[in-house]
Amino acid sequence: MTEIRRPDDMVRITTPELAQAFIDEQIALIKEQVGDKKVLLALSGGVDSSVVAALLIKAIGDQLVCVHVNHGLLRKGEPEQVIEVFQNQMKANLIYVDAVDRFLDLLEGVTDPEQKRHIIGEEFINVFADEARKLDGIEFLAQGTIWPDILESEAGIKAHHNAGGLPEDLDFELVEPVRILFKDEVRVVGDQLGLPGNMVYRQPFPGPGLGVRCPGAITRDRLEAVRESDAILREEFAKNGLEGKVWQYFTVVPDFKSTGIKDGKRTFEWPCIIRAINTTDVVEVTVEHLDPALMDHLAQRITTEVEGINRVLYDFTPKPPATVEYE
Ligand code: XMP
Repeated sequence: MTEIRRPDDMVRITTPELAQAFIDEQIALIKEQVGDKKVLLALSGGVDSSVVAALLIKAIGDQLVCVHVNHGLLRKGEPEQVIEVFQNQMKANLIYVDAVDRFLDLLEGVTDPEQKRHIIGEEFINVFADEARKLDGIEFLAQGTIWPDILESEAGIKAHHNAGGLPEDLDFELVEPVRILFKDEVRVVGDQLGLPGNMVYRQPFPGPGLGVRCPGAITRDRLEAVRESDAILREEFAKNGLEGKVWQYFTVVPDFKSTGIKDGKRTFEWPCIIRAINTTDVVEVTVEHLDPALMDHLAQRITTEVEGINRVLYDFTPKPPATVEYE
């Protein structure tokens, strides 16, 4: 299975009909590969793992065990949406792991960006492996590997996260039903599988999540300010027709405070930085110029609704010299 390659003459999946043909073909292949055995999947709620989950649910129903790890660095409403869509609507066999304290305790006081990323990545594997060991009779591991992952790993650009980096005692055979697809094709397939639009067309979100948007040592209160301001930004972009148009947008709450005034009293609180960018390849990035009325409205909402914020700043920096994320 892992050697399957995208045929050179494969027609790009751009229509519901092509997506349905792909879905039917994959369901047959998954049934043939898996038989009556159980499959485990780390379901983050991102596009790729969500499409893999939906395909596997159609193919093998409750032989699929999904594990959703909430590491405390997800956006507002994300864990709830995973539970609603997969457990309540699709009747998936879903294990929800609240690992918030486990992650935030480990990250306490850690300021180095690379160390933060390393801790988050490693702990994710630990939590997932713990859950896998509790289960009996799992023989397969499903992954949302897509074709660019294969190409990039072959080109030596990045290591392909094969088998999720699981410890050797967890020796599963891989099931990778979207491995020959490009990202845009995964979205068309997700649409056809009936997944919600905001799940299928969501903007990119880094693995370490909001952790890289809470620069320096993460504290629960500042992380909450990132989460709440991000939710307001997303809501306002959706209302103003920018969702799906601007490539990526988010907020960052840096670890310094400045003087302000609220209700006639001095405040000493964090700023909230808004970043909104466009790109095709993420190598070069331009800044989205927001309507001044929207900027005023965002500043007003974020300073009144988000605890601990007394200023809203806009990041006008392209990439290069700045990267998209702050860490
Ligand atoms: P940078 O900050 O490198 O970001 O200019 C480029 C794009 O990659 C995303 N990004 C990540 N995605 N894991 C991911 O899956 C990560 O660790 C990670 N770091 C950055 C970033 O959001 C942007 O879209």
